[in-house]
Amino acid sequence: MLAIVLLLALPFCTAESASSYAGSTVVNSYPPPGATNTAVDTYFPDASQVGYAGPSPTGAEPAAIVTAVPFSKVEGVFPLSRPNSADGADTTFNVMRHWGNFAPMYSVESFGLPDASPVIPERCGLNGVHLLMRHGARYPASDEPGPSQFASEIHAATSKKALSVTGDLKFLATWTYKLATTSLTPFGRESMFSNGVAFRYRYGELLNAFTDHLPVFRTTSIDRMVDAALTFAAGFFDVRTYETDYHQEIIIQENNFNNTLAPCEACPNANSEDIGNFGDTQSSKWANAYLQDARRRLQPMIQGVNLTISLLVGMQELCALETVALGYSKFCDLFTEEEWEGYEYYAVTNDLIVNKDFWYTCGPGNPTGAAQGLGYVQELVSRLTHTPINVWNSSTNGTLDSSNITFPLDQPIYVDFTHGVGIASVVTALNFTSLAATGPLPTDHIPPHRSYISSQIAPFSSQLVAQVLSCPASEEPTHIRFLLNDAVVPLTGIHGCTEDSNGLCALPSFISGMHERIGQIDFAHDCFANYTMPNPNNIIDGRYPS
Ligand SMILES: *[C@@H]1O[C@H](CO)[C@@H](O)[C@H](O)[C@H]1NC(C)=O
Ligand SMILES: *[C@@H]1O[C@H](CO)[C@@H](O)[C@H](O)[C@H]1NC(C)=O
Ligand SMILES: *[C@@H]1O[C@H](CO)[C@@H](O)[C@H](O)[C@H]1NC(C)=O
Ligand SMILES: *[C@@H]1O[C@H](CO)[C@@H](O)[C@H](O)[C@H]1NC(C)=O
Ligand SMILES: *[C@@H]1O[C@H](CO)[C@@H](O)[C@H](O)[C@H]1NC(C)=O
Ligand SMILES: *[C@@H]1O[C@H](CO)[C@@H](O)[C@H](O)[C@H]1NC(C)=O
Ligand SMILES: *[C@@H]1O[C@H](CO)[C@@H](O)[C@H](O)[C@H]1NC(C)=O
Repeated sequence: MLAIVLLLALPFCTAESASSYAGSTVVNSYPPPGATNTAVDTYFPDASQVGYAGPSPTGAEPAAIVTAVPFSKVEGVFPLSRPNSADGADTTFNVMRHWGNFAPMYSVESFGLPDASPVIPERCGLNGVHLLMRHGARYPASDEPGPSQFASEIHAATSKKALSVTGDLKFLATWTYKLATTSLTPFGRESMFSNGVAFRYRYGELLNAFTDHLPVFRTTSIDRMVDAALTFAAGFFDVRTYETDYHQEIIIQENNFNNTLAPCEACPNANSEDIGNFGDTQSSKWANAYLQDARRRLQPMIQGVNLTISLLVGMQELCALETVALGYSKFCDLFTEEEWEGYEYYAVTNDLIVNKDFWYTCGPGNPTGAAQGLGYVQELVSRLTHTPINVWNSSTNGTLDSSNITFPLDQPIYVDFTHGVGIASVVTALNFTSLAATGPLPTDHIPPHRSYISSQIAPFSSQLVAQVLSCPASEEPTHIRFLLNDAVVPLTGIHGCTEDSNGLCALPSFISGMHERIGQIDFAHDCFANYTMPNPNNIIDGRYPS
């Protein structure tokens, strides 16, 4: 009897509640507003009051990057569920690797030097390291309206009692929108912490060379960037002491402020409709090409909402962003492997809907791409040569960078946090031409074997590492090489650097190549001059064509 009542009641109940909340936005906040925690009180004395700490000796600093063989490749998705595509479970096709700049960082197989290991070459010694790292996974940014637009369409149809869903889209009857904006997700924090731990294992030994002052690490002022930096430091040092183990420099990120870690804000043309948003124009063309099948397949399963191409893109974004925020998403297996490949390509060509990150916006295909990365390259050269910067003709901040307190030049370890834009523009300014080798990106098909893949360049927690080495090992550095997400990058596009199977370039050649490159980039023109978007087929080095 009871069972029959339940069976009758359930569909009715589901339909009723669906009309009131499907698609609605759910916001929770923790801690509860009324609850306070007075860090130290008589009920909960802290460790120093309790005492009895016991001994706490530490061992020698690790240097796995010098000794570890083989280097273990990172998948880096714990504790997320691995999604399937509409084609079903396939252990070789990983949907997450097709999320473009929303992909969790993974170790890239190769950028063209298949024999190079991230472990330093045997005859070399490690003298220094420069890390430029993107923050970990975040909620949607304010310029990524896709997910929330999809939610409001569902909600509007529900309010009008017009929503009807069947088949694979049935879950939408009770689905609600649970994503906040722009801050780090718990997985993003986990990734920053564990990458801090990993960096200590690989490069910790270099801490021994800090003798009279503490390291300065830099980040930008916005919430997730500060969170990312502190969480990394808690993993790299120790959660109990990290706040006093180093100096955290926080550089203002805001329009018209100079900041080499948020260079878009210092480059007005990068924000203009015509030039900065060019990637959006390109990617819309591509979305219209790759999502037609999905639309034909999914539209019959939903009434009350017209699944436009931009809503379908929003659903793919929801798969990625719900997974990194909530641990799983029901949107992932709505799309086929081919459509996930389409999405990955969309993210490369895109700027506005996904992010201002890639080829046509701050990468090799935009006339401001190199100018945006220039400031960091000038800082890198300054650090490598121990020579202060004295010309302020990029996004560098002269107030901060002319002081040896806020911009020290003698550190064996440099750690800077940035955005996807930062990594994408810096590799353009560094003239990593192998990434641009296959040229401008067509908008009607995916070119086979393309060299520019955004989940390999600027995924969440993306890492560009410069290893400063001496070969043979000595006190004086002789060489440099770069790892992008654990794969060694060929430096043969840089004037003076010769072919090397380990990606090594002699330090003096690299520095003179960079001086030449710095001289080739005209920040004032590319970022400030009044020009219209040049033909994108003529740009592959991130500069306004001369
Ligand atoms: C440079 O940084 C300092 C210190 O944060 C800040 O006060 C100043 O406004 C910045 N200048 C520019 C042009 O961004
Ligand atoms: C759905 O949107 C497409 C593209 O905007 C349009 O061509 C089509 O007429 C729309 N269909 C309905 C039923 O509104
Ligand atoms: C900020 O950048 C502009 C453009 O390169 C430069 O003219 C200005 O001097 C810089 N300001 C500071 C404080 O460095
Ligand atoms: C900074 O420069 C001053 C003057 O050149 C020097 O006395 C001081 O030791 C330097 N401080 C650091 C931290 O390098
Ligand atoms: C950068 O790469 C371009 C090829 O895209 C090359 O013409 C130029 O000489 C390179 N610049 C430097 C300084 O290596
Ligand atoms: C910017 O300054 C550097 C010196 O730091 C110089 O080499 C370069 O030519 C300058 N760029 C322009 C466009 O003046
Ligand atoms: C930029 O140039 C265009 C065409 O030459 C002109 O119409 C426009 O007023 C200029 N804008 C500014 C801000 O100078």
